[in-house]
This record gives sequence, C-alpha cells and structure tokens, in this order.
Amino acid sequence: MADPTHVREQYATEDNLETRRSVWQPDPVLGDPVEVALEAVSAALPGGKSMPDVLEVGSGPGVFAARLQERLPHIALLATDQSPRFVELARERGVPAQLMDVQHLLPGDDSYDVVVAMWMLYHVPDLHRGLAEIRRVLRPGGTFVAVTNGDEHVAGLRRDAGGAGLVTHFSSQIGEAALREHFDTVERVDLRPSALFADHAAAQAYLDSSDEGLVIPHFEGSREYAGEVTVFTAR
Ligand SMILES: C[S@@+](CC[C@H](N)C(=O)[O-])C[C@H]1O[C@@H](n2cnc3c(N)ncnc32)[C@H](O)[C@@H]1O
Repeated sequence: MADPTHVREQYATEDNLETRRSVWQPDPVLGDPVEVALEAVSAALPGGKSMPDVLEVGSGPGVFAARLQERLPHIALLATDQSPRFVELARERGVPAQLMDVQHLLPGDDSYDVVVAMWMLYHVPDLHRGLAEIRRVLRPGGTFVAVTNGDEHVAGLRRDAGGAGLVTHFSSQIGEAALREHFDTVERVDLRPSALFADHAAAQAYLDSSDEGLVIPHFEGSREYAGEVTVFTAR
C-alpha cells in the first residue's frame, strides 16, 4: 500500500479513483464520510477570522477541495498532491493546487488553521514524518482532519476474490495511536458505508482498479459489500 512506485502508477490518472468512488452508498445513520469530513473542516475554522487558511494534502484531482471551496467560499485553500496530473486536474476544477509530498511540506511553520488528508496517509512511506510535517505547518490550536479505511473495508469482496482484508499502517484500527504521538486530542467518527456493485463486471472493475490481480468468480445480479471508514479530528 505504501510502495512509492506502485502508488505513483496507481494515481497517474483519475480513472482508478473514479471507479472506486462511484460504488459507495452512505452509512445508513451517519451518512457520507465525505460529508462528515466537510462538516469537521467547517467546524474547525477559527471564528472571527475573515479568511482561514486550509491545506489539503494528497488531494488527488481536487474533488473534495472543490467541494470545500463551494461550501466555504471564504477560506484560503491550497490543494497539494505528489501526482503532477492530479495537481493539473485540481487546477482545472478551479482549485489552487501545488505539487507537494506530505513528507516534505513546503509551507513554513504555523501557516494553516486546518489541514485535511482524505484517504492518503496509508500510502505515505514515512507516516510519522508526514504527521510531523502536518503538525509543523498547523498553527497552535489548529485542527487536522484525516479520513481512512479500516481493515474490514470491502474485505468481503476481497475474500470472495481469494484475497484478504487490506491491512495498512494508517487504518481505523491503528490510525488513532499514530495521531496521538503528534496531537493532544483525537476524536473519531466510525462509519459503515457500503459498496454496491450492479453486476459482476462492476465488482471486477473495482478490484482491477487497485491492480493486485484479484479475480472474483462470476455471479449473477448485484452484490453489496460493507465498508469501514473513520474520520479522525486531531488537535
Ligand atoms: C486514494 S487517493 C485519494 C485522493 C483524494 N484525497 C480523494 O479522497 O479522492 C491517494 C492520493 O494520495 C496521493 N499521495 C500518495 N502519497 C503521497 C505523498 N507522500 N504526498 C502527497 N500525496 C500523496 C496520491 O497521489 C493520491 O492522489
């Protein structure tokens, strides 16, 4: 999951991300994890400041950043990613974006009120360097919002295809302990969205998007698999 060459190949274009994004249905009680993250960023903005500074790391093609800009037009937002193509796509969406590795952030100390990382920390080879960099660029009293998956995320689909659940170094299970090494308080919202596949081809396309060679035996009709997602808010 954190092999840098594989990660760069995976995110050379938007196709794999779009295939994965398109199947998700919200948690029946808590809703869409993206909406929970938007609310967490919104709630963390310092009151009384005309233009709070928000940094997104690993922003991909800027879909979340564009939603942030739409929802919170008064923020000064910078989206960053290590993929040149994604930086280009974010700019095409009207989002200010810059090429940056979270392990070597370019902004100076105490530059941001909020930093957000959506489904990206599990790819970062030196997780603690990345978290230390995020802490460094956050102002005192600033907030970090991080979204990640748990070990059981679509594990049913992966098992049906002869694989195993995907265990990462920044998951619902162990992400909180990692965050506590860099932040004083960590809150979490655990969600259970579900992946709905209209047919066998859709399920296979989802597996193919992560290029692990998993093949699911043919099935008729649609199938639904449970996801496991956590939104962390750290200060
Ligand atoms: C699963 S995608 C998520 C993209 C986006 N945040 C979203 O939710 O759609 C992971 C993203 O992290 C980026 N990434 C991986 N390692 C990174 C690093 N060390 N620094 C910055 N970005 C990184 C990838 O290029 C990719 O855009």
